Amino acid sequence: MILAIESSCDETAAALVDDGGRLLSSVVASQSELHARYGGVVPEVASRRHLELCVPVVERALDDAGVGFDRVDAVAVTEGPGLIGALLVGLATAKALAFARRLPLIPVGHLHGHVASLYLEPEPVAPPFLVLLASGGHTLLAEVDDHGPGMHVVGQTLDDAAGEAFDKGARLLGLGYPGGAALERLARDGDDRAHEFAVAMAGREGLDLSFSGLKTALRTAVLAAGGDDGGRADLAASYQRALVRSLVSRTMRALEVTGRDTLAVVGGVAANGVLRAALEQECARAGVRLALAPLALCSDNAAMIASAARFCPALPYPEYLARDAYATA
Ligand code: KG4
Ligand code: ZN
Repeated sequence: MILAIESSCDETAAALVDDGGRLLSSVVASQSELHARYGGVVPEVASRRHLELCVPVVERALDDAGVGFDRVDAVAVTEGPGLIGALLVGLATAKALAFARRLPLIPVGHLHGHVASLYLEPEPVAPPFLVLLASGGHTLLAEVDDHGPGMHVVGQTLDDAAGEAFDKGARLLGLGYPGGAALERLARDGDDRAHEFAVAMAGREGLDLSFSGLKTALRTAVLAAGGDDGGRADLAASYQRALVRSLVSRTMRALEVTGRDTLAVVGGVAANGVLRAALEQECARAGVRLALAPLALCSDNAAMIASAARFCPALPYPEYLARDAYATA
């Protein structure tokens, strides 16, 4: 049984997964309310909160699974990329827990974790596939050939991540942080054709993405539109449509270029209903098998880290004590 800890950004999370890939418990303590008043994550504030939450969250994960710590065979932890101070809290906690019981430690890459959200029972999706990973920190298209950490990136954002574009759009529309889900809710009452926001085409056979121009276009439109609610809903719907069109067009192109017949979609933005529906439609048309991450596992969580850990090398006791976290991929 693997106990995993995730603390790369503003979620403190712990989960237990058994040797067969069954999820026994998954606890996520979100700090987003703490950071909302600043309009984004404050790294030092996040680190300090992780410090307070890490042990209670691990205890809760064990409680929820109804098992004692003596049943755990290995401790897994996100080692990067992410906020360095935040990562260090999770890593130090995981090292201490593993060391205390002479267990192995399994360091996991956060992006591998997002992909591995698809590998859990009861309906695991196995590679090979093309993956669209769209989160608040990363947006990329990559070929995945096995369950391990390796992936071949064929396209990525040149500026903002898709989640970041949702968050910045939400902020311009006066919604809170993080704004992706709030923007999606506001957009339900709007006309997605009310505004025509151009979608940038960039580099590498058209497989890279860019969202910064879109954000500027929204800013201009918000200033022009004034503040009534109907106007804001139209703006949200049109902006979301442009973001989704950009993601979908680049993804379908990547499927063509790579010749892959299965598309996997993971990360916080994979929770977006409009994106999910658009990909379902396009994949059905193109005869591509579509595997969407379960809604509960799109945003950051430790279940995906435990899942990835099953396919990563374990560092034996006590070799991991000098292991360091890393901020960038
Ligand atoms: O994967 P994640 O939890 O954290 C990172 O690794 O970055 O992704 C968080 C991002 C945020 O930017 C959030 O606004 C976005 O995912 N997000 C959404 C939705 N739910 C979360 N974006 C669009 N629509 C949603 N329903
Ligand atoms: Zn993430």
